[in-house]
Amino acid sequence: MDAPNLKTPLPGPKAKALIERDGKVVSPSYTRDYPFVIARGVGATVEDVDGNVFLDCAAGIAVNSTGHSHPKVVAAIVDQAQKFLHMSGTDFYYEPQVRLGEDLAATAPFPGPVRTFYANSGTEANEAAIKMARYHTKRFGILGFLGSFHGRTLGSLSLTSSRAIQRRGFGPMQGGTFHAPYATCYRCPVGLTPDRCGAECLDFLEEQVLVHLISPDDVAAVLVEPIQGEGGYVVPAKAFHERLRALTTKHGMLLMVDEVQSGMGRTGKMWAIEHFGVQPDVVTAAKGIASGLPLGVAIARSDVMAWPPGAHASTFGGNPVSCAAAIATIELLRESLVKNAAEVGEHLLAGLRALMDKHPIIGDVRGKGLMVGVELVRDRQTKERATEERNAVVDEAFRRGMLILGAGRNAVRFSPPLVLSKAQADTAIRIFDEALTAVTARK
Ligand SMILES: Cc1ncc(COP(=O)(O)O)c(C=O)c1O
Repeated sequence: MDAPNLKTPLPGPKAKALIERDGKVVSPSYTRDYPFVIARGVGATVEDVDGNVFLDCAAGIAVNSTGHSHPKVVAAIVDQAQKFLHMSGTDFYYEPQVRLGEDLAATAPFPGPVRTFYANSGTEANEAAIKMARYHTKRFGILGFLGSFHGRTLGSLSLTSSRAIQRRGFGPMQGGTFHAPYATCYRCPVGLTPDRCGAECLDFLEEQVLVHLISPDDVAAVLVEPIQGEGGYVVPAKAFHERLRALTTKHGMLLMVDEVQSGMGRTGKMWAIEHFGVQPDVVTAAKGIASGLPLGVAIARSDVMAWPPGAHASTFGGNPVSCAAAIATIELLRESLVKNAAEVGEHLLAGLRALMDKHPIIGDVRGKGLMVGVELVRDRQTKERATEERNAVVDEAFRRGMLILGAGRNAVRFSPPLVLSKAQADTAIRIFDEALTAVTARK
C-alpha cells in the first residue's frame, strides 16, 4: 500500500461509529492519542476502516517487528493453528516451545547454557525475572531507575516509575524496591557533559541508596532498560551500563535487562545491551518477539534459572501458536531485518537530525536502529519541555497520514516495523517536518 493516502476527513464515518461503541464498553484506562481504527496492515503501512492509508511508525507500540501480517509469520501461525492451539507447556511438552528456547539460547547476549521461562507479556516476563532473582539469591531487594517502565502488574509496577498516574491509587508498592536516577544524558542528573562522563549519576545509587536505604547484600538484582522506552527513548552513556555491571558483580547482584521494547532487533542488534559491550545475567523480552502475538520471555543463565518444579509457571505462557510466530520472526530478523533496522535507522536518525537546523523546537534527536526519539523543547538553552507542542505534533502527523507516539514528557518516538524502507523513512521525515511547521506556526 502507498502511504499516506487519505480519502476522508479524520476520523471517517466508520471510525467515528466504532469509537463511539468502544467508549461504552472498553476500559477507560487506555490512552488513545488520536482516532485511528485499523482495518488491515501490510508491512509498515496500515489502512483504517474508512480506506485511509497511513505510514506506521508506531508498530502497535514497537510490536509488529516483521511488519503487519508478514506472509512467513502468518503461514507459521496458520500451520501451527491447524495442528493444535494449546497444550500448556507447563504440564506437557511440544516442539515449538523447545525450538524457540534453542533459538533464544543461540541469540542470548551472554555465554553458557541458557534457559527460557515463558509468559504472555512484558510485565509477566519481568515478574518472572523478579521472582527468579529473589529465589536464586535468597535476597529480597530489587533496584530500578527513575523514568523506567517495566509493566503494570504489581511487582513490575513497583519498579515502573515512568509516570505517577501509572502508580496513583494502587499503593503500597512491593517492599524492597528502590530507584535511582537513569543516565538521561541530555538532562544529565549530575550536570556533566558526555565528554566528562564517568557515569557519576550512579553515585546516588552506590553512595546513597546502598548506604542509607538497603544493604547491598539484601539486593537480589538491578532491573534496567538498556535504552529507556516509555521514559523518552533515552540512550545512556556506555559508562552507565559498564559501571552497573561492575557494581552488580561486586555485590553478587544479578544484572537484569528489560529488552521488552528495545530487544528483538529493533536497535540494529538483536539486543540493545550489545551496543554497550556488557553481558547481563537475565534478559526479558516481549513486544516484537512474536510479531504481534502475545508472548513474553525471561531468558537466563541455566545456573540462575534453577528453580524446582512448581516454583513458577503460566497456563498460557509459551502458547504454541505464539512460539511458532516467534520462531518465524527470529528467522526473519536474522536473515535481514536486524540489518535493515541498523541501516534504515541510521538514515532516519540523520534525516531527523538535519531537521534541527530548521526547527529550534527540536532539542535532541537520539536512538539506535529503528528506536529513535526526538525531544521537543521551548528553548534550547533552558530545555523547557514542550509537552503541549509534542502532543500537537503527534496529532498533526496523524492528520497527514503517519502514526507516531509520544514517549516521556516531551519526546516523540519512532518505532516502526523493522521492514521500513529508506523511501518510507524519507516520507516519515517529510511528514514530521510538516507537522513541526504546522505546530510552531500556531504561536
Ligand atoms: C521496557 C518495557 N518493559 C515492560 C513493558 C510491559 O509490557 P506489557 O505491556 O506487554 O506488559 C513495556 C511496555 O511498554 C516496556 O516498554
